Amino acid sequence: MTQATYSLLNNQTGEKTELPLVTGTIGTPGADVGKVYDKLGIFTYDPGFTSTCSTKSAITYIDGDEGVLLYRGYPVDQLAEHSSFIEVCYLVLHGELPKKDQLEAFEGSIRRHTMINEGVKRFFDGFYYDAHPMAMLTGVVGALSAFYHDTTNNKDPKHREIFAHRMIAKIPTIAAAAYKKFYGQPFMHPQNNLDYCSNLLQMMFAVPAEPYHVDPVAARALDVLFILHADHEQNASTSTVRMAGSTGCNPYAAISSGIAALWGPLHGGANEAVLNMLDEIGDAKHVPEFMNKVKNKVEGVRLMGFGHRVYKNFDPRAKIIREQCHKVLKHLGKENDPKMELALKLEEIALSDDYFKQRKLYPNVDFYSGIIYEALGIPVNMFTPMFAVARTVGWCAHWMEMTADSSTRIARPRQVYTGAPVRNYVPCDQR
Ligand code: CMC
Repeated sequence: MTQATYSLLNNQTGEKTELPLVTGTIGTPGADVGKVYDKLGIFTYDPGFTSTCSTKSAITYIDGDEGVLLYRGYPVDQLAEHSSFIEVCYLVLHGELPKKDQLEAFEGSIRRHTMINEGVKRFFDGFYYDAHPMAMLTGVVGALSAFYHDTTNNKDPKHREIFAHRMIAKIPTIAAAAYKKFYGQPFMHPQNNLDYCSNLLQMMFAVPAEPYHVDPVAARALDVLFILHADHEQNASTSTVRMAGSTGCNPYAAISSGIAALWGPLHGGANEAVLNMLDEIGDAKHVPEFMNKVKNKVEGVRLMGFGHRVYKNFDPRAKIIREQCHKVLKHLGKENDPKMELALKLEEIALSDDYFKQRKLYPNVDFYSGIIYEALGIPVNMFTPMFAVARTVGWCAHWMEMTADSSTRIARPRQVYTGAPVRNYVPCDQR
Protein backbone atom coordinates (compact mmCIF):
# COMPACT_ATOMS: atom_id res chain seq x y z
CA MET A 1 0.00 0.00 0.00
CA THR A 2 3.02 2.33 0.32
CA GLN A 3 5.36 3.39 -2.50
CA ALA A 4 7.74 6.33 -2.93
CA THR A 5 6.62 8.58 -5.75
CA TYR A 6 6.84 12.16 -4.46
CA SER A 7 9.81 14.15 -3.26
CA LEU A 8 10.54 17.49 -1.61
CA LEU A 9 13.50 19.60 -2.70
CA ASN A 10 15.44 21.68 -0.19
CA ASN A 11 16.22 24.79 -2.28
CA GLN A 12 19.09 25.78 0.01
CA THR A 13 21.05 22.51 0.02
CA GLY A 14 19.67 20.88 -3.13
CA GLU A 15 18.88 17.80 -1.00
CA LYS A 16 15.89 15.75 -2.14
CA THR A 17 13.66 13.92 0.33
CA GLU A 18 11.38 11.16 -0.86
CA LEU A 19 7.85 11.11 0.47
CA PRO A 20 6.30 7.64 0.59
CA LEU A 21 2.79 7.65 -0.84
CA VAL A 22 0.14 6.17 1.44
CA THR A 23 -2.70 4.78 -0.66
CA GLY A 24 -6.08 3.48 0.42
CA THR A 25 -8.59 1.27 -1.39
CA ILE A 26 -10.23 4.22 -3.18
CA GLY A 27 -9.78 7.99 -3.11
CA THR A 28 -6.94 10.46 -2.83
CA PRO A 29 -3.63 9.09 -1.51
CA GLY A 30 -1.54 10.96 1.07
CA ALA A 31 2.15 11.88 0.91
CA ASP A 32 3.74 10.72 4.18
CA VAL A 33 5.44 13.83 5.60
CA GLY A 34 6.22 12.22 8.97
CA LYS A 35 10.00 12.26 8.33
CA VAL A 36 10.21 15.73 6.79
CA TYR A 37 11.38 17.35 10.02
CA ASP A 38 14.08 14.71 10.61
CA LYS A 39 15.33 14.90 7.01
CA LEU A 40 14.92 18.59 6.14
CA GLY A 41 14.63 20.31 9.52
CA ILE A 42 11.32 21.97 8.64
CA PHE A 43 7.73 21.34 9.63
CA THR A 44 4.79 21.13 7.24
CA TYR A 45 2.22 23.91 7.80
CA ASP A 46 -1.51 23.37 7.18
CA PRO A 47 -3.80 25.27 9.55
CA GLY A 48 -7.34 23.89 9.32
CA PHE A 49 -5.92 20.63 7.87
CA THR A 50 -7.07 21.39 4.32
CA SER A 51 -4.49 19.00 2.80
CA THR A 52 -3.62 16.82 5.78
CA CYS A 53 -4.77 13.28 6.57
CA SER A 54 -4.48 12.65 10.30
CA THR A 55 -4.99 8.90 10.04
CA LYS A 56 -5.87 5.90 7.89
CA SER A 57 -9.43 4.72 8.49
CA ALA A 58 -11.68 1.98 7.09
CA ILE A 59 -15.00 3.36 8.36
CA THR A 60 -16.32 6.11 6.07
CA TYR A 61 -15.41 7.36 2.60
CA ILE A 62 -16.34 10.72 1.09
CA ASP A 63 -15.78 11.87 -2.49
CA GLY A 64 -16.50 15.57 -2.10
CA ASP A 65 -16.35 16.36 -5.84
CA GLU A 66 -18.86 13.67 -6.77
CA GLY A 67 -21.04 14.02 -3.64
CA VAL A 68 -20.48 10.41 -2.52
CA LEU A 69 -20.70 9.13 1.06
CA LEU A 70 -20.08 5.47 1.94
CA TYR A 71 -20.23 3.75 5.34
CA ARG A 72 -18.00 0.67 5.20
CA GLY A 73 -18.42 0.77 1.41
CA TYR A 74 -22.23 1.05 1.35
CA PRO A 75 -23.73 4.21 -0.25
CA VAL A 76 -25.58 6.23 2.37
CA ASP A 77 -28.64 6.62 0.14
CA GLN A 78 -29.06 2.82 -0.02
CA LEU A 79 -28.75 2.59 3.75
CA ALA A 80 -31.24 5.44 4.26
CA GLU A 81 -33.73 3.67 2.02
CA HIS A 82 -33.37 0.07 3.18
CA SER A 83 -31.66 -0.06 6.55
CA SER A 84 -32.37 1.06 10.12
CA PHE A 85 -30.24 3.24 12.37
CA ILE A 86 -29.50 0.33 14.69
CA GLU A 87 -28.33 -1.85 11.77
CA VAL A 88 -26.16 1.04 10.55
CA CYS A 89 -24.68 1.30 14.07
CA TYR A 90 -23.64 -2.36 13.83
CA LEU A 91 -22.21 -1.79 10.35
CA VAL A 92 -20.24 1.32 11.36
CA LEU A 93 -18.86 -0.36 14.51
CA HIS A 94 -18.12 -3.81 13.11
CA GLY A 95 -17.45 -3.25 9.41
CA GLU A 96 -20.10 -5.66 8.01
CA LEU A 97 -23.87 -5.73 7.81
CA PRO A 98 -25.13 -8.06 10.57
CA LYS A 99 -26.74 -11.43 10.01
CA LYS A 100 -30.19 -11.78 11.65
CA ASP A 101 -28.90 -13.29 14.91
CA GLN A 102 -26.05 -10.75 15.12
CA LEU A 103 -28.52 -7.89 14.69
CA GLU A 104 -30.83 -9.32 17.34
CA ALA A 105 -27.98 -9.76 19.81
CA PHE A 106 -26.69 -6.24 19.12
CA GLU A 107 -30.10 -4.62 19.40
CA GLY A 108 -30.76 -6.59 22.60
CA SER A 109 -27.52 -5.34 24.14
CA ILE A 110 -28.31 -1.72 23.23
CA ARG A 111 -31.82 -2.04 24.69
CA ARG A 112 -30.44 -3.47 27.94
CA HIS A 113 -28.08 -0.54 28.46
CA THR A 114 -30.55 2.32 28.02
CA MET A 115 -31.02 3.22 31.70
CA ILE A 116 -28.70 5.67 33.41
CA ASN A 117 -27.44 5.35 36.97
CA GLU A 118 -29.61 7.28 39.45
CA GLY A 119 -26.45 9.16 40.45
CA VAL A 120 -26.03 10.36 36.84
CA LYS A 121 -29.57 11.77 36.95
CA ARG A 122 -28.67 13.92 39.95
CA PHE A 123 -26.10 15.80 37.84
CA PHE A 124 -29.04 17.45 36.11
CA ASP A 125 -30.13 19.01 39.41
CA GLY A 126 -26.94 21.04 39.41
CA PHE A 127 -27.60 22.77 36.09
CA TYR A 128 -29.21 26.19 35.96
CA TYR A 129 -32.79 26.07 34.61
CA ASP A 130 -31.89 27.58 31.23
CA ALA A 131 -28.67 25.63 30.58
CA HIS A 132 -28.28 24.76 26.91
CA PRO A 133 -28.92 21.01 26.40
CA MET A 134 -25.51 20.68 24.66
CA ALA A 135 -23.85 22.05 27.81
CA MET A 136 -25.69 19.42 29.85
CA LEU A 137 -24.78 16.68 27.36
CA THR A 138 -21.09 17.59 27.45
CA GLY A 139 -21.04 17.59 31.25
CA VAL A 140 -23.13 14.47 31.87
CA VAL A 141 -21.37 12.32 29.23
CA GLY A 142 -18.04 13.41 30.72
CA ALA A 143 -19.39 12.37 34.11
CA LEU A 144 -19.98 8.81 32.84
CA SER A 145 -16.20 8.42 33.08
CA ALA A 146 -16.66 8.59 36.86
CA PHE A 147 -19.16 5.70 36.78
CA TYR A 148 -17.46 3.12 34.56
CA HIS A 149 -13.75 3.78 35.15
CA ASP A 150 -13.23 0.42 36.83
CA THR A 151 -14.66 -1.51 33.87
CA THR A 152 -13.03 0.49 31.11
CA ASN A 153 -9.71 -1.04 30.20
CA ASN A 154 -8.95 0.52 26.81
CA LYS A 155 -6.66 -2.39 25.91
CA ASP A 156 -9.41 -5.00 26.27
CA PRO A 157 -11.52 -5.38 23.09
CA LYS A 158 -14.53 -6.61 25.14
CA HIS A 159 -14.35 -3.52 27.37
CA ARG A 160 -14.14 -1.33 24.28
CA GLU A 161 -17.26 -2.97 22.88
CA ILE A 162 -19.19 -2.61 26.16
CA PHE A 163 -18.21 1.06 26.27
CA ALA A 164 -19.59 1.58 22.73
CA HIS A 165 -22.85 -0.24 23.54
CA ARG A 166 -23.32 1.75 26.75
CA MET A 167 -22.60 5.04 25.00
CA ILE A 168 -24.98 4.36 22.06
CA ALA A 169 -27.69 3.12 24.44
CA LYS A 170 -27.47 5.89 27.03
CA ILE A 171 -26.99 8.97 24.87
CA PRO A 172 -30.73 9.20 23.93
CA THR A 173 -31.65 8.84 27.62
CA ILE A 174 -29.24 11.64 28.52
CA ALA A 175 -30.39 13.88 25.64
CA ALA A 176 -34.05 13.35 26.61
CA ALA A 177 -33.24 14.12 30.25
CA ALA A 178 -31.58 17.41 29.15
CA TYR A 179 -34.80 18.25 27.27
CA LYS A 180 -36.97 17.43 30.29
CA LYS A 181 -34.73 19.47 32.59
CA PHE A 182 -35.07 22.47 30.26
CA TYR A 183 -38.88 22.17 30.36
CA GLY A 184 -39.10 21.30 34.05
CA GLN A 185 -40.87 17.99 33.36
CA PRO A 186 -40.19 14.65 35.09
CA PHE A 187 -37.67 12.37 33.35
CA MET A 188 -39.27 9.43 31.53
CA HIS A 189 -37.72 5.98 31.84
CA PRO A 190 -36.63 4.26 28.63
CA GLN A 191 -39.14 1.69 27.28
CA ASN A 192 -37.07 -1.18 26.00
CA ASN A 193 -39.89 -2.64 23.91
CA LEU A 194 -39.57 0.38 21.61
CA ASP A 195 -37.07 0.78 18.79
CA TYR A 196 -34.21 3.26 19.20
CA CYS A 197 -35.87 6.39 17.78
CA SER A 198 -39.38 5.64 19.09
CA ASN A 199 -37.84 5.31 22.54
CA LEU A 200 -36.11 8.67 22.19
CA LEU A 201 -39.37 10.35 21.12
CA GLN A 202 -41.17 8.68 24.03
CA MET A 203 -38.53 9.83 26.55
CA MET A 204 -38.80 13.39 25.23
CA PHE A 205 -42.51 13.83 24.67
CA ALA A 206 -44.33 11.42 26.99
CA VAL A 207 -45.41 12.56 30.46
CA PRO A 208 -46.28 10.23 33.36
CA ALA A 209 -49.82 11.66 33.55
CA GLU A 210 -51.11 10.29 30.24
CA PRO A 211 -50.45 7.63 27.58
CA TYR A 212 -48.22 8.56 24.66
CA HIS A 213 -48.45 7.14 21.17
CA VAL A 214 -45.29 7.27 19.05
CA ASP A 215 -46.04 8.37 15.49
CA PRO A 216 -44.30 5.73 13.30
CA VAL A 217 -43.76 8.27 10.50
CA ALA A 218 -41.99 10.59 12.95
CA ALA A 219 -39.88 7.71 14.30
CA ARG A 220 -38.88 6.60 10.79
CA ALA A 221 -38.01 10.19 9.78
CA LEU A 222 -35.76 10.45 12.83
CA ASP A 223 -34.24 7.05 12.03
CA VAL A 224 -33.36 8.21 8.49
CA LEU A 225 -31.89 11.46 9.85
CA PHE A 226 -29.79 9.46 12.31
CA ILE A 227 -28.53 7.13 9.54
CA LEU A 228 -27.40 10.19 7.59
CA HIS A 229 -25.60 11.65 10.64
CA ALA A 230 -24.01 8.41 11.90
CA ASP A 231 -20.47 9.12 10.71
CA HIS A 232 -18.55 11.54 8.51
CA GLU A 233 -14.88 10.47 8.65
CA GLN A 234 -12.39 12.96 10.16
CA ASN A 235 -14.74 15.92 10.84
CA ALA A 236 -13.92 18.35 13.67
CA SER A 237 -15.72 16.46 16.46
CA THR A 238 -14.45 13.02 15.40
CA SER A 239 -10.92 14.38 15.14
CA THR A 240 -11.39 15.83 18.63
CA VAL A 241 -12.44 12.41 19.96
CA ARG A 242 -9.41 10.85 18.27
CA MET A 243 -7.10 13.59 19.57
CA ALA A 244 -8.31 13.15 23.15
CA GLY A 245 -8.42 9.36 22.78
CA SER A 246 -4.83 9.23 21.53
CA THR A 247 -3.67 10.17 25.02
CA GLY A 248 -5.26 6.98 26.39
CA CYS A 249 -7.86 8.93 28.36
CA ASN A 250 -11.18 7.52 29.54
CA PRO A 251 -13.35 7.03 26.42
CA TYR A 252 -16.43 8.72 27.93
CA ALA A 253 -14.26 11.80 28.47
CA ALA A 254 -13.12 11.57 24.83
CA ILE A 255 -16.76 11.46 23.64
CA SER A 256 -17.56 14.44 25.86
CA SER A 257 -14.83 16.43 24.09
CA GLY A 258 -16.38 15.45 20.75
CA ILE A 259 -19.79 16.71 21.90
CA ALA A 260 -18.20 20.03 22.87
CA ALA A 261 -16.62 20.35 19.41
CA LEU A 262 -19.89 19.42 17.67
CA TRP A 263 -21.73 22.27 19.41
CA GLY A 264 -20.03 25.02 17.37
CA PRO A 265 -22.16 26.76 14.68
CA LEU A 266 -19.67 25.88 11.93
CA HIS A 267 -20.18 22.18 12.73
CA GLY A 268 -23.21 20.46 14.34
CA GLY A 269 -24.52 23.73 15.77
CA ALA A 270 -25.34 24.80 12.20
CA ASN A 271 -28.77 23.10 12.33
CA GLU A 272 -29.79 25.40 15.19
CA ALA A 273 -28.19 28.38 13.42
CA VAL A 274 -30.18 27.64 10.23
CA LEU A 275 -33.52 27.83 12.05
CA ASN A 276 -32.45 31.00 13.86
CA MET A 277 -31.44 32.45 10.48
CA LEU A 278 -34.82 31.53 8.91
CA ASP A 279 -36.56 33.15 11.88
CA GLU A 280 -34.47 36.29 11.49
CA ILE A 281 -35.15 36.57 7.75
CA GLY A 282 -38.81 35.99 8.56
CA ASP A 283 -40.30 36.55 5.12
CA ALA A 284 -39.27 35.79 1.52
CA LYS A 285 -39.34 39.53 0.76
CA HIS A 286 -36.29 39.99 3.03
CA VAL A 287 -34.23 37.33 1.19
CA PRO A 288 -32.50 39.71 -1.30
CA GLU A 289 -31.39 42.02 1.55
CA PHE A 290 -30.10 39.02 3.54
CA MET A 291 -28.26 37.62 0.51
CA ASN A 292 -26.56 40.98 -0.03
CA LYS A 293 -25.31 40.87 3.55
CA VAL A 294 -23.98 37.33 3.00
CA LYS A 295 -22.22 38.20 -0.26
CA ASN A 296 -20.74 41.40 1.18
CA LYS A 297 -19.74 39.45 4.30
CA VAL A 298 -21.42 42.09 6.47
CA GLU A 299 -20.49 41.33 10.09
CA GLY A 300 -19.41 37.84 9.00
CA VAL A 301 -23.00 36.87 8.03
CA ARG A 302 -23.06 33.47 6.29
CA LEU A 303 -25.80 31.44 4.70
CA MET A 304 -25.93 28.81 7.43
CA GLY A 305 -26.43 25.25 6.22
CA PHE A 306 -24.47 26.03 3.06
CA GLY A 307 -20.90 25.10 2.16
CA HIS A 308 -18.67 22.29 3.29
CA ARG A 309 -14.94 21.71 3.62
CA VAL A 310 -15.12 18.45 1.66
CA TYR A 311 -18.25 18.58 -0.52
CA LYS A 312 -17.76 20.79 -3.53
CA ASN A 313 -20.98 19.42 -4.96
CA PHE A 314 -24.36 18.55 -3.42
CA ASP A 315 -24.01 17.02 0.03
CA PRO A 316 -25.70 13.63 -0.66
CA ARG A 317 -27.29 13.79 2.80
CA ALA A 318 -28.98 17.14 2.04
CA LYS A 319 -30.79 15.67 -0.99
CA ILE A 320 -32.26 12.81 1.08
CA ILE A 321 -33.19 15.13 3.95
CA ARG A 322 -35.00 17.50 1.59
CA GLU A 323 -37.13 14.56 0.36
CA GLN A 324 -37.78 13.49 3.96
CA CYS A 325 -38.79 17.05 4.78
CA HIS A 326 -41.52 17.00 2.12
CA LYS A 327 -42.70 13.56 3.35
CA VAL A 328 -42.90 14.59 7.02
CA LEU A 329 -44.56 17.95 6.32
CA LYS A 330 -47.16 16.21 4.10
CA HIS A 331 -47.83 13.57 6.78
CA LEU A 332 -48.34 16.28 9.38
CA GLY A 333 -50.52 18.36 7.06
CA LYS A 334 -47.93 21.16 7.02
CA GLU A 335 -47.19 21.15 3.25
CA ASN A 336 -47.19 24.93 3.16
CA ASP A 337 -44.78 25.31 6.05
CA PRO A 338 -43.47 28.90 5.71
CA LYS A 339 -39.96 27.93 6.88
CA MET A 340 -39.73 25.23 4.21
CA GLU A 341 -40.87 27.71 1.58
CA LEU A 342 -38.27 30.22 2.78
CA ALA A 343 -35.54 27.57 2.76
CA LEU A 344 -36.46 26.49 -0.78
CA LYS A 345 -36.36 30.12 -1.89
CA LEU A 346 -32.92 30.65 -0.32
CA GLU A 347 -31.64 27.45 -1.94
CA GLU A 348 -33.00 28.44 -5.36
CA ILE A 349 -31.39 31.88 -5.21
CA ALA A 350 -28.07 30.59 -3.84
CA LEU A 351 -27.73 27.83 -6.45
CA SER A 352 -28.10 30.31 -9.30
CA ASP A 353 -25.89 33.04 -7.80
CA ASP A 354 -22.28 33.50 -8.96
CA TYR A 355 -21.02 34.06 -5.39
CA PHE A 356 -22.12 30.55 -4.38
CA LYS A 357 -21.38 28.92 -7.76
CA GLN A 358 -17.80 30.21 -7.88
CA ARG A 359 -17.11 29.01 -4.34
CA LYS A 360 -18.93 25.69 -4.92
CA LEU A 361 -21.26 26.25 -1.97
CA TYR A 362 -24.21 23.83 -1.84
CA PRO A 363 -26.76 22.98 0.87
CA ASN A 364 -25.25 20.70 3.50
CA VAL A 365 -26.80 18.19 5.91
CA ASP A 366 -27.89 20.93 8.30
CA PHE A 367 -29.86 23.07 5.84
CA TYR A 368 -33.09 21.05 5.99
CA SER A 369 -32.71 18.85 9.08
CA GLY A 370 -33.95 21.60 11.44
CA ILE A 371 -37.19 21.94 9.47
CA ILE A 372 -37.92 18.24 10.07
CA TYR A 373 -36.99 18.48 13.74
CA GLU A 374 -39.22 21.51 14.17
CA ALA A 375 -42.13 19.80 12.41
CA LEU A 376 -41.71 16.87 14.85
CA GLY A 377 -42.04 19.31 17.76
CA ILE A 378 -38.37 19.22 18.71
CA PRO A 379 -37.28 22.65 19.99
CA VAL A 380 -34.40 24.48 18.31
CA ASN A 381 -31.94 24.05 21.18
CA MET A 382 -32.38 20.25 20.91
CA PHE A 383 -31.33 20.09 17.23
CA THR A 384 -27.62 19.74 17.95
CA PRO A 385 -28.21 17.17 20.74
CA MET A 386 -30.12 15.11 18.12
CA PHE A 387 -27.02 15.28 15.89
CA ALA A 388 -24.88 14.23 18.88
CA VAL A 389 -27.09 11.19 19.57
CA ALA A 390 -26.69 10.05 15.96
CA ARG A 391 -22.96 10.81 15.70
CA THR A 392 -22.12 8.93 18.92
CA VAL A 393 -21.77 5.67 16.98
CA GLY A 394 -19.26 7.30 14.61
CA TRP A 395 -17.23 8.68 17.51
CA CYS A 396 -17.24 5.26 19.21
CA ALA A 397 -16.23 3.48 15.99
CA HIS A 398 -13.31 5.87 15.42
CA TRP A 399 -12.21 5.57 19.05
CA MET A 400 -12.34 1.75 18.77
CA GLU A 401 -10.47 1.71 15.45
CA MET A 402 -7.78 4.00 16.84
CA THR A 403 -7.44 2.20 20.15
CA ALA A 404 -7.21 -1.24 18.51
CA ASP A 405 -4.41 0.00 16.22
CA SER A 406 -1.04 -0.71 17.83
CA SER A 407 0.64 1.94 15.64
CA THR A 408 -1.45 4.78 17.15
CA ARG A 409 0.71 7.50 18.68
CA ILE A 410 -0.32 10.48 20.78
CA ALA A 411 -1.60 13.24 18.45
CA ARG A 412 0.79 16.11 19.01
CA PRO A 413 0.91 18.76 16.22
CA ARG A 414 3.73 21.29 15.99
CA GLN A 415 3.53 25.06 15.41
CA VAL A 416 5.34 27.96 13.84
CA TYR A 417 6.15 30.18 16.82
CA THR A 418 5.31 33.88 16.33
CA GLY A 419 5.86 35.17 19.90
CA ALA A 420 8.70 37.15 21.46
CA PRO A 421 12.21 35.75 20.96
CA VAL A 422 14.18 34.82 24.09
CA ARG A 423 14.51 37.70 26.59
CA ASN A 424 15.58 38.05 30.21
CA TYR A 425 13.24 38.44 33.15
CA VAL A 426 12.87 42.07 34.30
CA PRO A 427 12.01 42.67 37.98
CA CYS A 428 8.65 44.36 38.54
CA ASP A 429 10.10 47.72 39.73
CA GLN A 430 12.25 48.00 36.58
CA ARG A 431 9.47 47.48 33.97
N1 CMC B 1 -22.13 31.50 3.34
C1 CMC B 1 -21.43 32.43 2.68
N2 CMC B 1 -20.14 32.29 2.30
C2 CMC B 1 -19.55 31.12 2.60
C3 CMC B 1 -20.21 30.11 3.28
C4 CMC B 1 -21.55 30.31 3.66
N3 CMC B 1 -22.24 29.37 4.32
N4 CMC B 1 -19.36 29.07 3.46
C5 CMC B 1 -18.21 29.43 2.90
N5 CMC B 1 -18.31 30.69 2.37
C6 CMC B 1 -17.29 31.42 1.62
C7 CMC B 1 -16.22 31.98 2.54
O1 CMC B 1 -16.53 33.28 2.98
C8 CMC B 1 -15.00 31.93 1.64
O2 CMC B 1 -15.10 33.01 0.74
P1 CMC B 1 -13.77 33.76 0.19
O3 CMC B 1 -13.09 32.77 -0.70
O4 CMC B 1 -14.28 34.95 -0.52
O5 CMC B 1 -12.94 34.11 1.41
C9 CMC B 1 -15.21 30.65 0.82
O6 CMC B 1 -16.63 30.46 0.77
C10 CMC B 1 -14.55 29.42 1.43
O7 CMC B 1 -15.03 29.29 2.77
P2 CMC B 1 -14.18 28.77 3.98
O8 CMC B 1 -14.73 29.31 5.24
O9 CMC B 1 -12.71 29.01 3.71
O10 CMC B 1 -14.44 27.20 3.87
P3 CMC B 1 -14.14 26.13 4.98
O11 CMC B 1 -13.95 24.86 4.26
O12 CMC B 1 -13.06 26.58 5.89
O13 CMC B 1 -15.50 26.10 5.84
C11 CMC B 1 -17.71 25.62 6.51
C12 CMC B 1 -16.51 25.16 5.68
C13 CMC B 1 -18.74 24.50 6.55
C14 CMC B 1 -17.27 25.92 7.94
C15 CMC B 1 -18.33 26.90 5.85
O14 CMC B 1 -18.80 26.60 4.55
C16 CMC B 1 -19.46 27.51 6.69
O15 CMC B 1 -19.19 28.30 7.58
N6 CMC B 1 -20.75 27.12 6.40
C17 CMC B 1 -21.86 27.58 7.24
C18 CMC B 1 -21.93 26.75 8.49
C19 CMC B 1 -22.47 25.37 8.23
O16 CMC B 1 -23.47 25.19 7.55
N7 CMC B 1 -21.81 24.37 8.82
C20 CMC B 1 -22.25 22.95 8.72
C21 CMC B 1 -21.29 22.14 7.94
S1 CMC B 1 -21.92 20.49 7.51
C22 CMC B 1 -22.27 19.69 9.00
C23 CMC B 1 -21.16 19.57 9.97
O17 CMC B 1 -19.97 19.70 9.68
O18 CMC B 1 -21.47 19.33 11.11
